[in-house]
Amino acid sequence: MNRRDFLLTAGISLVSVSAYSFGNSIKPLIEAKSEKVALIFGTRYGATKDIAKWIAKGMGSAVDILNIETINFDEILKKYDKFVIGSGIWIDGPHKRLVELLSIHKKQIEPKIIASFIVCGTTGEDDAGMARIEGYFKRFHKPLESKPKLQKHFGGRMIIEKLSEKDRKLLDNFYRNILKREFKSWDRTKPKEVEKFGSELLVNIMAQSISSTE
Ligand SMILES: Cc1cc2nc3c(=O)[nH]c(=O)nc-3n(C[C@H](O)[C@H](O)[C@H](O)COP(=O)(O)O)c2cc1C
Repeated sequence: MNRRDFLLTAGISLVSVSAYSFGNSIKPLIEAKSEKVALIFGTRYGATKDIAKWIAKGMGSAVDILNIETINFDEILKKYDKFVIGSGIWIDGPHKRLVELLSIHKKQIEPKIIASFIVCGTTGEDDAGMARIEGYFKRFHKPLESKPKLQKHFGGRMIIEKLSEKDRKLLDNFYRNILKREFKSWDRTKPKEVEKFGSELLVNIMAQSISSTE
């Protein structure tokens, strides 16, 4: 077993014990390599931001969390070596500005993207759900030549009182007339599962760094 495989095996078994402490324990290795990692997220109602924070926690905070709506693209493209991109899904689509970033700066950003994630209401518990989720990823990755190596979907949340009037009306109509269900608030976020993904990501970054120096 080479160093890369050893790290992956050790990492993955440790991840199941405690994602947070594992992330913290290997963070110095990333910092020693001085790889700068940024997680760029696009949110409307905050679940994707929370998920970004939980991923960072699983990574032992070896990542900067950036909101797509407030970043300067040229600056971040120069500053970071690797990117994780994540978006909420609204009416079948990801954050427009994030897709725009991928499209306009494709050449510079694509080689640096190591993972992507989406946050949505679709659960993926059946084939139809999985097909929808695949469709969301397809739209998210449309500007790219190939898909990021790691992809993950997470459950988000919908709190009716927090929605804009326009969204509330639209969704009320959608639930009532299309889904034929009562329109109720829901929360499908699972912080521990998200932290675990953060630790897996960290292991992956380490493994890539090691194999690039071997
Ligand atoms: C206006 C609106 C449209 C949505 N459309 C979809 C959809 O097409 N598919 C889906 O799976 N979830 C959909 N959702 C659920 C969101 O993906 C979920 O609320 C997620 O947490 C949004 O991310 P955010 O909280 O970071 O804004 C929608 C939510 C809203 C508010």
